[in-house]
Amino acid sequence: MVKKVEIYKEILVSEEELDKRLDELAEEITESYKNSEKELLVVGILRGAVIFMTNLVTRMDLDLTMDFMAVSSYGGSSVSSGVVRILKDLEEGIKDKDVLIVEDIIDTGLTLDYLIRNLKDRGANSIKIATLLDKPNRRKVNVDVDFVGFKIPDEFVVGYGLDYNQKYRNLPFIAALKEEVYS
Ligand code: XMP
Ligand code: MG
Repeated sequence: MVKKVEIYKEILVSEEELDKRLDELAEEITESYKNSEKELLVVGILRGAVIFMTNLVTRMDLDLTMDFMAVSSYGGSSVSSGVVRILKDLEEGIKDKDVLIVEDIIDTGLTLDYLIRNLKDRGANSIKIATLLDKPNRRKVNVDVDFVGFKIPDEFVVGYGLDYNQKYRNLPFIAALKEEVYS
């Protein structure tokens, strides 16, 4: 078994930084929805967004419901192809609801671009995006992201929900992986 400390070369976002930023994001999000008459549905994208989403919604002072989607892009695991397949769909309809999509990371933007179009077609009242991390240098399509935790450089990161081969999601911080872990 690989010990946690041996797999990362650098902590990019510490536990303290995550804690502070989540408080700020939750407040911004609460402000943005508090006067809406519509039902708020928070949609987490499995599996990477789970830790971010749970820690975010517990700090939001709003009535809301939660649902989840799982998507995968066709093609390689580390490069998005832009063709998105829904592996698990929402349990509930979203017509006339305010939908907040919660993602772990926006990279090329292709996944979110697809999701936004897909959910718009279902008649949501509004769609906003909260992402923990943003790699702006990698963007292929423009996506309006409403709430961003941290902008990070173009490095493969793990922790706080993000994985490499399904592992390291339980690191309590965001770290850049050592190159030798890939190979
Ligand atoms: P796109 O390119 O569609 O991709 O914006 C978003 C998805 O790509 C995955 N991704 C990562 N996952 N560490 C990860 O664990 C990373 O550094 C990383 N970069 C992209 C992730 O699944 C995200 O939902
Ligand atoms: Mg993901």
